Amino acid sequence: MTGPAKCLALIGAKGMLASMVLDTASADFEITPFDLPEFDLTDASLVQKVIGELKPDVIINCAAFTAVDACETNEDLANKVNGEGPGILAAAALKVGATLVHISTDYVFDGKQTRPYAEEDRPNPSSAYGRSKLLGEEAIRSSGLKEYFIIRTSWLYGPGGKNFVETVARLAAERQELRIVADQFGTPTYTGDLAGAIFNLLDAATVDPPPANSPYGLYHFSNEGECSWHDFALAIVEELKGRGATVVAEAVLPIRTEEYPLPAPRPAYSVFSKEKYRRVTGATVPHWKESLIRYFDRRSSEV
Ligand SMILES: NC(=O)c1ccc[n+]([C@@H]2O[C@H](COP(=O)([O-])OP(=O)(O)OC[C@H]3O[C@@H](n4cnc5c(N)ncnc54)[C@H](OP(=O)(O)O)[C@@H]3O)[C@@H](O)[C@H]2O)c1
Repeated sequence: MTGPAKCLALIGAKGMLASMVLDTASADFEITPFDLPEFDLTDASLVQKVIGELKPDVIINCAAFTAVDACETNEDLANKVNGEGPGILAAAALKVGATLVHISTDYVFDGKQTRPYAEEDRPNPSSAYGRSKLLGEEAIRSSGLKEYFIIRTSWLYGPGGKNFVETVARLAAERQELRIVADQFGTPTYTGDLAGAIFNLLDAATVDPPPANSPYGLYHFSNEGECSWHDFALAIVEELKGRGATVVAEAVLPIRTEEYPLPAPRPAYSVFSKEKYRRVTGATVPHWKESLIRYFDRRSSEV
């Protein structure tokens, strides 16, 4: 390590992504975790006080109201946590000169596109969750803070969280037949890879000499490749079987979105272009199948 450790405030520290941020951060960072109930990012005076006292170099915001369907009936709370919260953090970051990293979502898009979404593509959310997350992006952009990264990601899974991989693993051990949506396409993202991407972007902003063009701004990051939820489920079940896990499911059947109605509409297509991320960081993006195997390797070593 060169120089003193950087002070990092990790918001939403008990969540799924945050646990991998904690796991991935190098010794260059001294991390102070914040989460409910002691720390509510919608409490502006508390946030100003806490961030004002800590004076972090970096704030990573992994906190959000992430229950997508519950957002449909709690849009006020979604807008407060996902829409106003990021603006409150941006104002606090501006005051202490911190860089803010904020995580957003593919749900800001309506999914009508048929080629990978780039950062310049127009958002048009069709769910309360997507609208609230877009409000959060706008709150950061209009805060006056220049040193921020907004990273949109998709289909996140990893240790310590409710996620599709764990749901399929549970159902595959319980049911003879799984019925999985096959007409929504996107890309899974392993939290370990997203945590790495966060630090790669932070590194790109602190190179010496400083980069000619500001690296700050909006990024898309997921794993590489694309698949349907059904393809993803097939890969998960295959991996479970290959590792000798209990699988009673004999069939993983493809179904249409209409056959599995949910309160919040999901984008039918939300593959991201990672071109900008690759250009700015020089990093490669692992394919989702390769990352799924790494996740299972880790999962096996923890059981
Ligand atoms: N999961 C996905 O598939 C996905 C996809 C795309 C983007 N994202 C984005 O990725 C980020 C991380 O997601 P995740 O799945 O890791 O989230 P998560 O596991 O649900 O963790 C979020 C954390 O934030 C906390 N939190 C909620 N409201 C808060 C508040 N008002 N003040 C402080 N903390 C609060 C939660 O506490 P409680 O548990 O007590 O509520 C929880 O510990 C989020 O921004 C999410 O929108 C997720």
